[in-house]
Amino acid sequence: MATPPPLSRRSVLLGAGAAGLLSACSAPAAASDPAVVDAFGAQQAGIARPAPPQRHVDLSVWDLPHGTDRPWLGALLAALGRRAAALGAGGDPALADLPPARLTVTVGLGPRIVAAVGPDLPGTQDLPVFPGDEIGDRDRGGDLLLQIGADEPLVAALAMTELTAGTGMIPRWRRTGYRGPSASDGPGRNVLGFADGIVLPKSDAELAADVWLDGPPPVRGGTIAVVRSIRLDTAGFHALPVAAQERVIGRRKATAEPLSGPELDLGAKTPDGEYVIPADAHVRRAHPLTVGAGVMLRRGYNSEEGLLFIAFQRELRTFVATQHRMSEGDALLRYATTTASATFLVLPGFSADAPLGQALPA
Ligand code: HEM
Repeated sequence: MATPPPLSRRSVLLGAGAAGLLSACSAPAAASDPAVVDAFGAQQAGIARPAPPQRHVDLSVWDLPHGTDRPWLGALLAALGRRAAALGAGGDPALADLPPARLTVTVGLGPRIVAAVGPDLPGTQDLPVFPGDEIGDRDRGGDLLLQIGADEPLVAALAMTELTAGTGMIPRWRRTGYRGPSASDGPGRNVLGFADGIVLPKSDAELAADVWLDGPPPVRGGTIAVVRSIRLDTAGFHALPVAAQERVIGRRKATAEPLSGPELDLGAKTPDGEYVIPADAHVRRAHPLTVGAGVMLRRGYNSEEGLLFIAFQRELRTFVATQHRMSEGDALLRYATTTASATFLVLPGFSADAPLGQALPA
């Protein structure tokens, strides 16, 4: 096998100290600055924090031509982490004088790379093809996930260019997304006009139970990401009377209350013996109790196509079982077609002393 070329001079520079030099040139923003999200921690930023999520996302998937070469991969990941931390701290020239706008960068590795680096780690398994998927070869899978969140889309775009230039990574697919405004910490609305993001793990205990991987250091604090770009037939959906739209989702459009009343009651029936929340309603089909799986942390965004679905869970099965259950008869799927899809092992968090990817097997 040919020896892979080293990382370009620029990326080595960025990895080996230019980030420090750059941030020394301009004072990083104070830790209490609301525009700054700390990149360091036991888990990567961009998953459970910040809350509420940033208004914009720039999500791209890349192939790594030398990704199975461990030293090359290690240098790449360390450089990405260092650069992400410098950009998010504020004052970095690459952001062209813009405040960092709660910038976060979340990095994951695709199944091909995980299988090569640590065949026993979670994240070696790929997603199956689901009924109705219309996904071209370039829009399926990929070696590296770069999920960049920011309250200002230009910050995310500049960060994406800065992080990837000169790395040798090959672009595979990319989508941008935005979230509707939300009153407090509550969910925003999606392009169907419904509140989205109500049932989620939120407390530390819920996140530990359903989202974070535990086990050996290479994965502890990581998670499994599923990203899917979903084309929505918004015209078709909006042509339905609101009451019919509500039966598709299973919640009221105005208030987001379940059709069963203040509490979600999947067993509630009408006097005629029909389910109040229809058998094919999305919240019934997707509900963890119906599926018999964990609660996924959905952090989706509206997109030009419809929905940029992003979910984190400690087991790929949580997503797969939910999607299968939906495929068996979710009314919402009459209005939805998936056009891009991938899963990644999101690496544990990192710090100045323990670079991103350091814990992966040597
Ligand atoms: C096709 C585009 C989709 C749209 C427009 C959509 C929209 C919604 C809405 C409006 C809700 C109710 C509010 C909430 O609980 O957040 C919801 C709930 C949910 N969705 Fe989706 N969703 C879509 C696809 C998916 C997919 C692909 C999955 C996973 C396979 C999924 C999983 C869930 C889950 C787990 C819930 C919470 C259900 C509950 O426990 O009540 N959704 N979705």
